[in-house]
Amino acid sequence: METIEKANIDWSNLGFGYYKTDKRFYSNYKDGQWDEGCLTEDENITMNESAGVLQYAQTCFEGMKAYTTQDGKVVIFRPDMNAHRMYESAKRLEMPPYPVDKFVDAVCKVVKANLKYVPPYGTGASLYIRPFMFGSSPVMGVKPAEEYQFRVFVSPVGPYFKGGMKPLTLKISDFDRAAPNGTGHVKAGLNYAMSLHAIVTAHNEGYNENLYPDAKTRTKVEETGGANIFFVTKDNKIVTPKSSTILPSITRKSLLHVAKEYLGLEVVEREIYLTELSEFKECGLCGTAAVISPVGKIVDNGKEICFPTGMDSAGEISKKLYDTLTGIQYGKIKAPDGWIKVVD
Ligand code: PLP
Ligand code: COI
Repeated sequence: METIEKANIDWSNLGFGYYKTDKRFYSNYKDGQWDEGCLTEDENITMNESAGVLQYAQTCFEGMKAYTTQDGKVVIFRPDMNAHRMYESAKRLEMPPYPVDKFVDAVCKVVKANLKYVPPYGTGASLYIRPFMFGSSPVMGVKPAEEYQFRVFVSPVGPYFKGGMKPLTLKISDFDRAAPNGTGHVKAGLNYAMSLHAIVTAHNEGYNENLYPDAKTRTKVEETGGANIFFVTKDNKIVTPKSSTILPSITRKSLLHVAKEYLGLEVVEREIYLTELSEFKECGLCGTAAVISPVGKIVDNGKEICFPTGMDSAGEISKKLYDTLTGIQYGKIKAPDGWIKVVD
């Protein structure tokens, strides 16, 4: 790949936000088919005031990252997994799924067109990739739109939680995230719209994030507003919630593989009750944006559950998981076959 002059950005101090880059991709669905799509410099979208997305939130999205590796390549972490997940999200929302291979192609095209925004190796930053899809034609009755747009843009980002690896305090939310037969397992925009009041409330009360219990019994741990959760037992097993109403995190799936195959740890996916939280020795969040973020404390209706790892740094196992996973992403550790898509 030719040498690219990088954008003038203070990479090491980036937060997690929108930064306008040069090009984005879009493809429109009309008369029953997706068009070829193309790159554009225009970051704005014009649509009908009664578009499906504006009236009934008919939209879903994805999130993944591109990295500059130690040896200077630009790579994307498991984009095929995001393509498949978006396919499922689209089906659940009665939208025409965007083909998996075209999704990966579009993502690669956008990263390639914005190479100067891919943070250099060693800065701790990465290029966040946001594919999304929405109903663009007018609806009035409650029904799916007839026309759609699939779009991908990118933004250079730093850590999702300010303070990077500083342990978080979670609140067991008074609000519910996902109904038993609802949309918690897909990446629907509406799952995030309904979490906004909950997150503003939690922030106002001094918490970093909400941890949602299962909506049906409110006795089991599910996930946070933007990441899955894992725990480490006193005998070093990784335990993570089994539930049909959480988003199947690609980071979590990767982490469980890393724990088992690279670190030789036992992993268990099972229902986790709020009453057993105090028995774990470590806790962390995992996701594309969150990477692995340690949790120091969970507050359940005023009752504090403090993990023995404390509020200063991550626990030993969480650190190992973090180092191995990010080592794979930044090309320092050999990745399992098919995990890394090189942009060339
Ligand atoms: N759970 C929720 C609600 C999320 O928004 C995300 C972020 O995508 C995740 C979990 C983590 O998923 P992934 O690891 O695929 O990014
Ligand atoms: C991601 O990790 O990609 C997400 O979508 C989480 C979001 C809350 C930023």
